[in-house]
Amino acid sequence: MEIQIFNSLKELNESFTEWFKEISSTEKQITVALSGGSTPKSLFDYWSSLPEGEIEWTKINFFWGDERCVAPDDSESNFKMTKEHLFNNINIPEENIFRIKGENNPTDEAKRYGELLNSELAQKEGTPVFDVVILGMGDDGHTASIFPHEIELWNDENNCVTATHPDSGQERVSLTGKVINAAKNVVFLVTGKNKAEKVKEIIEQPEVAERKYPAALVQPDSDNLYWFLDEAAAEKMM
Ligand code: 6PG
Repeated sequence: MEIQIFNSLKELNESFTEWFKEISSTEKQITVALSGGSTPKSLFDYWSSLPEGEIEWTKINFFWGDERCVAPDDSESNFKMTKEHLFNNINIPEENIFRIKGENNPTDEAKRYGELLNSELAQKEGTPVFDVVILGMGDDGHTASIFPHEIELWNDENNCVTATHPDSGQERVSLTGKVINAAKNVVFLVTGKNKAEKVKEIIEQPEVAERKYPAALVQPDSDNLYWFLDEAAAEKMM
C-alpha cells in the first residue's frame, strides 16, 4: 500500500497523472475502470487541459466501477459526468468506451456488463483483470457502489451486482470485490475532510474497518494499492 498526501487538488491530479502515464506507457491496450461521484471531475478537467498527445487516449479502454441506474443523459449518470468533463474534450474513439447502460434493467445490465468484462479483459483464474481500477470512497466508507448496509455484495461470486443507495434507494450496478481485487493496480482518489475519519480507520485499523466498510475490503491480490489523498482527507492521520 502506497499513501501519498497532497496539499492541493492540482498537485494530486498532476502526480496521479504522472503515475497513470507510467502505467499506460506500454505497447498494449490499457483497461481502466473509472469511478463516479464528484472527486474524479477535477481529474477529468485536468486531463482535458493537457496538451494533445500527453496521454495516448486511443490506447486506453474505459470502463466503470459502478453506475447509477439512470439514463446516460441523466444528471446522476457517471457516464454523463465523464463525457462532459473528459470525453467531449479529448480524441477518444467511441469503441474505447464501455459504459454500464444505466437505462437497462439493473439485473440484466449487471449480467451483461459482467459478461462484457469477461470478453474484453484479460482473465486470471476466470476473473477479468483490469490494468487500473480507480475508486472513490463515500463518507460512509462505501466504494464503487458497494455500501456498508449491503457489504455482503462485496463477496458476490459474479463480476457485477445490483446495489441500492442506502438513503435515496437509487439502484446501482457495481463491480464486486472479486474483480476489484483482481486488478493489477487499484487507486483510491479521496479528498475532503468528511472522509478523514474513515480514511484513518481503514489505513490504521484495517482488521476493524474491514468488518464495516467496503472500502476496507479493497485488498488487491497484486498488493498494488495506492491512496492519493488531499491534506483534508488525511488530516486525522497526521
Ligand atoms: C459513485 C461513485 C462512488 C464515489 C463515492 C465518492 O457512483 O458515486 O463511484 O463510489 O466514488 O461516492 O464520491 P465523491 O467523490 O463524490 O465523494
